[in-house]
Amino acid sequence: MKETIHFVLNGLEVSAEVAPHHSLLTLLREQFDLYGAKEGCGVGECGACTVIVDGLAVNACLLPALEVDGARVETIEGLAAPDGTLHPIQQAFVDLGAIQCGFCTPGMVMSAKALLDHNPSPSEEEIRTAIEGNLCRCTGYHQIVEAIKHAARNLQGTE
Ligand code: FES
Ligand code: FES
Repeated sequence: MKETIHFVLNGLEVSAEVAPHHSLLTLLREQFDLYGAKEGCGVGECGACTVIVDGLAVNACLLPALEVDGARVETIEGLAAPDGTLHPIQQAFVDLGAIQCGFCTPGMVMSAKALLDHNPSPSEEEIRTAIEGNLCRCTGYHQIVEAIKHAARNLQGTE
């Protein structure tokens, strides 16, 4: 039995018909054609599906779509400016070599954004804690941590 939900998706009010077993990840990918959030494990282990719901980074594969009724959802597709200019976090990932295969990248960037939205000047430990649910098979994490530090400085206008 499907239900209609209404929520804000990347700043736009949207509605959708969802079944109780649909995850937010399924909703985003299959009804809104937003393919940035990836299905890596599907069980909350890898973070590839990370999006932001009401300011918090969540695993979209675990969250029932019905639960975003009335919520604000942000995905990687909503970060760049309308003219295509990358968000400072995205640009930092590019500039500091924090992307290799790219599979983890949307989830990493969204975890980083959730962190910096709440804590504009995090310590390295706080950055590592924020991305501990995001697995990366390629980079060894060092460049990702450096990119988030760099983005934090840029967002604060100190670099
Ligand atoms: S696909 Fe959601 S945590 Fe892995
Ligand atoms: S860049 Fe390949 S998994 Fe992170």
